[in-house]
Amino acid sequence: MSDRNNRVCPVEKADSLDSRIRRWLQNPKKILSPYIEVGMTVLDLGCGPGFFSIDMAQMVGNSGRVIASDLQEGMLQKLKDKIKGTELEKRIILHRCEENKIGVSENVDFVLLFYMVHEIPNIETFFNEIRTILKPNGQVLIVEPPFHVSKAAFEDTAKKAQDAGLTAIERPKVFLNKTVLLKKC
Ligand SMILES: C[S@@+](CC[C@H](N)C(=O)[O-])C[C@H]1O[C@@H](n2cnc3c(N)ncnc32)[C@H](O)[C@@H]1O
Repeated sequence: MSDRNNRVCPVEKADSLDSRIRRWLQNPKKILSPYIEVGMTVLDLGCGPGFFSIDMAQMVGNSGRVIASDLQEGMLQKLKDKIKGTELEKRIILHRCEENKIGVSENVDFVLLFYMVHEIPNIETFFNEIRTILKPNGQVLIVEPPFHVSKAAFEDTAKKAQDAGLTAIERPKVFLNKTVLLKKC
């Protein structure tokens, strides 16, 4: 059974997601380099202030795209301000989703769900939509925090993702965190 906590992270806490110490502990390129290649279209869902989106945009290069999507306009605005006037403005598409609908129409090679699944109210519907957004052989990386999300809740999440038709292929190491990498086979 799940003990998931659906409270959405407020925009006032956005700066804590963007700190130097976090970059040292959770270097985005180090975490994501096995999954992201030049030219890919990737989705950073629940992107917050874009801690991962910016590195993802550097990794996909000029020929790739990052869809940075969040429920809260305030989070998207923070990312918009950060990339304004830079070359990344053309590579990052900002997308506002709804609580129960992601609503991304493009198919993507990779989806990042970092510290966000525990905020989703209906994960069955959520993972079904993720599967339809993914291209064949596309991958999803789920990372959830160590204390806030229990082992049981995380395993429930991993099971629901698999019930939706995704295949768990690896448990990558991200210091202290709970992770699973899934594929649309
Ligand atoms: C804890 S923050 C993590 C942000 C970012 N992934 C990171 O690791 O820095 C969770 C984010 O998920 C977003 N979120 C919550 N529910 C969502 C939903 N149903 N759809 C999209 N984003 C959502 C919140 O607005 C918030 O920005």
